[in-house]
Amino acid sequence: MLYIGIDLGTSAVKLLLMDQDGKIHKIVSKEYPLYFPRPGWSEQRPEDWWEQTVAGIQELTSECDKSQVAGIGFGGQMHGLVALDDQDRVIRPAILWNDGRTVKETDYLNEVIGRDKLSEYTANIAFAGFTAPKILWMKENEPENFEKIQKIMLPKDYLAYKLSGTFCTDYSDASGMLLLDVKNRCWSGEMMAICGVTEAQLPKLFESYEVVGTLKPELAGTFGFTGEVKIVAGAGDNAAAAVGTGTVGDGGCNISLGTSGTIFISSKEFRVDDNNALHSFDHADGGYHLMGCMLSAASCNKWWMEEILKTEDFAKEQENIVKLGENQVFYLPYLMGERSPHNDPMARAMFIGMSMDTTREEMTQAVLEGVAFGLRDSLEVARSLNIPIERTKICGGGAKSPLWKKIIANVMNLKVDVIESEEGPGYGGAILAAVGCGEYESVEAAAAKLVKVVDTVEPEKELAAKYEERYQKFRRIYPTVKELFR
Ligand code: XUL
Repeated sequence: MLYIGIDLGTSAVKLLLMDQDGKIHKIVSKEYPLYFPRPGWSEQRPEDWWEQTVAGIQELTSECDKSQVAGIGFGGQMHGLVALDDQDRVIRPAILWNDGRTVKETDYLNEVIGRDKLSEYTANIAFAGFTAPKILWMKENEPENFEKIQKIMLPKDYLAYKLSGTFCTDYSDASGMLLLDVKNRCWSGEMMAICGVTEAQLPKLFESYEVVGTLKPELAGTFGFTGEVKIVAGAGDNAAAAVGTGTVGDGGCNISLGTSGTIFISSKEFRVDDNNALHSFDHADGGYHLMGCMLSAASCNKWWMEEILKTEDFAKEQENIVKLGENQVFYLPYLMGERSPHNDPMARAMFIGMSMDTTREEMTQAVLEGVAFGLRDSLEVARSLNIPIERTKICGGGAKSPLWKKIIANVMNLKVDVIESEEGPGYGGAILAAVGCGEYESVEAAAAKLVKVVDTVEPEKELAAKYEERYQKFRRIYPTVKELFR
């Protein structure tokens, strides 16, 4: 049988065709625009996601035996607010996970409702990118749009709705709305009241590996699929990526170097850190996870390469970087503000420490190191909770760079296990589809069978010590400069 994994990302939708043994037959990527209508705002058109997903499915399955396609699963960019009216029309462009417009609403939730209450209701506090502050923003700033809302959903749920007609979401993605009681896996009555929404406006909740419906007959006709195709709920892209790298069960760790950068720690037990610095979310395997999220990771490198150096050849720019651990230039990776651990939408990126002999290579290196230091900030929170972490998996576009993996291993002082495929969320989505269709009895069983570690990047003692020194300086920069960003 064949399974389609759809990774609805921020720069593109990436679709992957996998068979029951985990072999990837084809990968297709379709881009769509990202809009920044004002500084710090970030939007996309759900209609673009849908159009490109349909084109992507057609291209993905153009040469396969279409009667074998049995299931579709998702990994989707999290937190985005998609609102539909009574005719199922998209009311306004989706407000994305890296949008920072909700400073006022986030402050209201954290200061007036209070962090303690939010944590009690949802296991989390408010961050600007989360969905609930966006609902409050819409209520305040676009009341005519707010009045029209019949259905609120997350980005990948829009695809599941269009494909199956089921208004659904899964627990991992719903966790990032600040409307879910994460511990008890149900909507929070208190949070719905605070945001002025009812349960009827929210999607039905499923486990990530559960079947939510079947592909609509007219779409099956369009795609030429002849058998029944099950639509599986899927997961937020980080939980899906964790499934795709085998980060399931207790004590696993995965780093994702995509547009965002995340460190994801899987756990069977529900856990919250005292300051809610890490997100406490449900996992796609039925358990829980803690996660730190930086808003700009591989996107910092993409910005530096494409916008500033005006090059597409990322690998060439990294070829001559050799002086690891000795770079005097620091880079703060806060192009879109920062989520974990600073929770500061006003923060911005900066370079510091250049001299007349600073080279282009050192600037590029500083960007890669700055992202690694940012991830280390979240790792420090996990370490302060006495969570033993010695190794991590890695995925996402940035994971294609051997140099970046080496920098991560040494900055974090972690063994970095490299998986056969870096296609984290897409592969995870396909695995979830296979589990939903009964190919495997659980997500853990499927991951154990399908995910293969092919290499490990070990930290080197001397280099890790040099980076430790650099990191201790890096962590002093943001507190020193943060007032400049107000
Ligand atoms: C996670 C987060 C990002 C997006 C990126 O909390 O906001 O990782 O999911 O797609």
